[in-house]
Amino acid sequence: MCGIVGGVGKLNLREYLISGLKKLEYRGYDSAGIAYAEAGEVIVRKVAGRVVSLDAVVPNNIHPSVGIAHTRWATHGQPNSSNAHPHQSNNGLFTIVHNGVIENFRPLTHQLAVRGFHFASETDTEVIANLLERFYTRSGSVLEAIAQTCEAIEGSFACAIIFKDEPNRLYFMKKASPLLIGVCDDASLLASDPAPMVELTDRFIDLDDGDYGFLEVGKVQIFRNGRRIKPRFVARNVDLYKSDLGEYPHYMLKEIEEIPSVIKRLCENYFDEDHFLFNESMLECLRKAKQIHFLACGTSYYASKIGAKYLRPLGKDVLVSIASEWAYDPYDITEEPVFVLLSQSGETADLIRCQKIINDRGGISIAVTNTKGSTIERKATYSCLLYAGLEVAVASTKSYLAQVCFLLMLTGALRGDMMVMADIDRLCESLKDIIARKEEIHSLARHAHKVTDAFFVGRGLDYLASMEGALKLKEVAYVHAESYPGGELKHGPIALITQGTLVVGFVSDPEVASSIRNNFEELSSRGARMVVLSTASLQMPGDSFVTKDVKPYLASSALVMVSQYFAYYMALEKGLPIDKPRNLAKSVTVE
Ligand code: F6R
Repeated sequence: MCGIVGGVGKLNLREYLISGLKKLEYRGYDSAGIAYAEAGEVIVRKVAGRVVSLDAVVPNNIHPSVGIAHTRWATHGQPNSSNAHPHQSNNGLFTIVHNGVIENFRPLTHQLAVRGFHFASETDTEVIANLLERFYTRSGSVLEAIAQTCEAIEGSFACAIIFKDEPNRLYFMKKASPLLIGVCDDASLLASDPAPMVELTDRFIDLDDGDYGFLEVGKVQIFRNGRRIKPRFVARNVDLYKSDLGEYPHYMLKEIEEIPSVIKRLCENYFDEDHFLFNESMLECLRKAKQIHFLACGTSYYASKIGAKYLRPLGKDVLVSIASEWAYDPYDITEEPVFVLLSQSGETADLIRCQKIINDRGGISIAVTNTKGSTIERKATYSCLLYAGLEVAVASTKSYLAQVCFLLMLTGALRGDMMVMADIDRLCESLKDIIARKEEIHSLARHAHKVTDAFFVGRGLDYLASMEGALKLKEVAYVHAESYPGGELKHGPIALITQGTLVVGFVSDPEVASSIRNNFEELSSRGARMVVLSTASLQMPGDSFVTKDVKPYLASSALVMVSQYFAYYMALEKGLPIDKPRNLAKSVTVE
């Protein structure tokens, strides 16, 4: 994972790099570091832990000409300061930050060690710095050294590089990890995503795999396969990358409460009074497809499961696979499924691997992402945006509801059914009611926050939705939470129910309400402490939280919002780092 940021020119580089890193911390927060050139020296500072600790050790009165910075999600080596980036080549000429994984770093390290290079860290990154040094010593050209290094290393990399003897230039190289250039009048910038740059520019250049080059003030040179290429400027809606906490204590809370407005924006983008606004040729493709195959990870996978339920009644064979599994066993039942790749970030490495397989086969893919310009968005046959705005908290909340509503609208468009729009409106009313009553959920969490294990149970759509509820509780409240279909409990898991075991039950589907209620009885009589989330028309005395009625096929999504709050408040009661849970990162760019 990791986030990188770099800049050259006349701007407050310290402020840009540190605030840029803070915006990229969602990509990892094990350690942070910065390097900058000033008065003929390249100065490196790095710390284990968060960017705020780095901020405290970087002097305020620096005036560098060029700088790079890094926030790390550790892949190779412990999250300590010696493994933190930037890393330098042995002679100190090259200083680099890297996002990605160098798969052949061990043999390369060995080859360099035989030639006398020494290594100060356990990372796969130092090898890049030393290869640059080695190739530069032979050719005397930095660009040539970068080209040769790109050839020598296997895996993924986005690197920003300071060459000590050229303090007014910032070099870069990229393959399979995101990197974007931003151009201002008196500075040139780069970063893993637009967020660090959006306050300074709205002129961006997307880089492709294999691109390398350098930035100066007023100058961008990009090379591919040894030849200079013309920069491709892209417009970005910078508002979508801006997000500050405002009055909120945490991004997770803010993002949950943005959900109704996110859904409204989504509807405005895909529906115009009396017709849907999806790309017609994409719809035609879906209409013709015998099979639709969803590929996704985590929360996006759970949203895909709901989408599959919506699409199946159209007579489609709809599969849903976890991207990291399908990537290594890319089966399909029909020869030509249409693939739907669902991803908030659009940069999830497992999904990128799937996309490569699909593209190599000449298959058709529809990317549904929240991130314009992301790898998955750019490499798909058709691409649709979620318009959910920047999601900063590591736990996905608003994206889930946006994904579910998007897939419902898509189904409505394929079925020619505009009634779904009215149903989505009612859902938003119910969501607003939940927001207004969030303290009721806080109180449920206050009573439950000491538990270490929880079960989430439901049937049908409620079961699928409860999977997302369990995931939220695991990741932000560190509670071991498992989701089971109500009917499956008696086939084994019920053995784990003892006095006081927390069970969160979802009841919003009238078809299965009575059978899931029976399951709740079976659990209660064995000592389970039930927290039942239900809808007005299905409520029973003793239910813990009751949402307003909406169409049954959308009601479980309202319960997901309740479970998002529940996880949030559990984490709050436990005093956990809600927006940045341990071991996680927002954008999972390593397999
Ligand atoms: C859960 C969460 C992760 C992501 C997963 C996929 O809250 O954030 O499970 O959903 O890593 O990420 P995207 O959707 O960016 O592909």
